[in-house]
Amino acid sequence: MPVLGMGTWHMAENPALRDSEIAAIREGLDLGLTLIDTAELYADGATETLVGEAIRGVDRDGLFIVSKVMPSHAGRSHMRKSCEASLKRLGVDHLDLYLLHWPGSVPLAETVACMESLRADGLIRQWGVSNFDVDDMEQLWRVPGGDACVANQVLYHLESRGAELALKPWMDAHNVAMMAYCPLAQGGRLAYGLMNDGTLGEIARRHHATPAQILLAWVMRDSRTVAIPKAGTPEHMRLNVEAAGIELTPSDLAALDRRFPAPSVKPPLDWL
Ligand SMILES: NC(=O)c1ccc[n+]([C@@H]2O[C@H](COP(=O)([O-])OP(=O)(O)OC[C@H]3O[C@@H](n4cnc5c(N)ncnc54)[C@H](OP(=O)(O)O)[C@@H]3O)[C@@H](O)[C@H]2O)c1
Repeated sequence: MPVLGMGTWHMAENPALRDSEIAAIREGLDLGLTLIDTAELYADGATETLVGEAIRGVDRDGLFIVSKVMPSHAGRSHMRKSCEASLKRLGVDHLDLYLLHWPGSVPLAETVACMESLRADGLIRQWGVSNFDVDDMEQLWRVPGGDACVANQVLYHLESRGAELALKPWMDAHNVAMMAYCPLAQGGRLAYGLMNDGTLGEIARRHHATPAQILLAWVMRDSRTVAIPKAGTPEHMRLNVEAAGIELTPSDLAALDRRFPAPSVKPPLDWL
């Protein structure tokens, strides 16, 4: 999986922003991004339709499309319908990765069986989960076939580092990729003052970069954690793509650790 992708939450909610959102995704594709993260939940499916419009005419083989099924749809009676509807809105014949959006009440064994049936029929290439903490992952691993899960998408940014304590090591040990959502803390909205922080600003200046770019470079610093920032303009998309080329030095990382330390005791997983 590429380490930088494009988030899409809130796209297609405001008609006045539609052209800019489509232009942003096309800019990302032109600049070499291939991963697009979306969900049936976003704008009640309209976000997937917008993504479908943005990728029309693009070589499908060069794309890595991720979508998510809502927990209430993740059972025998609905999951195939959900997946087929996502494919139709996106205008593609398969998803590269299909995620259970958050833990729900459908038994995991049933969700896993549905994922495997979609995979066997070629509707999805691989499947994973989202917002799963360590105990959720352990429960998944106890289900037959549960260890076929390839990714867990979780909230992770410089001011929300709880996932580093036990979840990330567990996922590394079990070969489950971490996809970091809200890597920009929603443009700083989730972390008051983050974008104006002095330490972050100083490191940004040294790299001739913006604080947002440093936030992304920090998430991708192990070259394995996948960042999926949402950019609603081509300019933000360009900045985000450039961030993949920023290499933080050991002293940058040490300064960020001092300013934004990971918690010393594992907190419950943050999620939206
Ligand atoms: N699995 C889940 O439960 C879950 C939950 C939340 C999110 N997600 C996924 O993760 C993606 C990312 O999370 P998110 O969209 O909530 O938050 P985010 O990516 O952390 O932040 C998006 C915000 O940052 C701004 N931004 C983007 N690039 C910027 C730049 N270079 N400089 C300054 N601001 C910039 C955007 O503004 P503009 O729009 O003006 O560019 C937008 O307001 C989502 O879009 C979605 O695909 C998944």
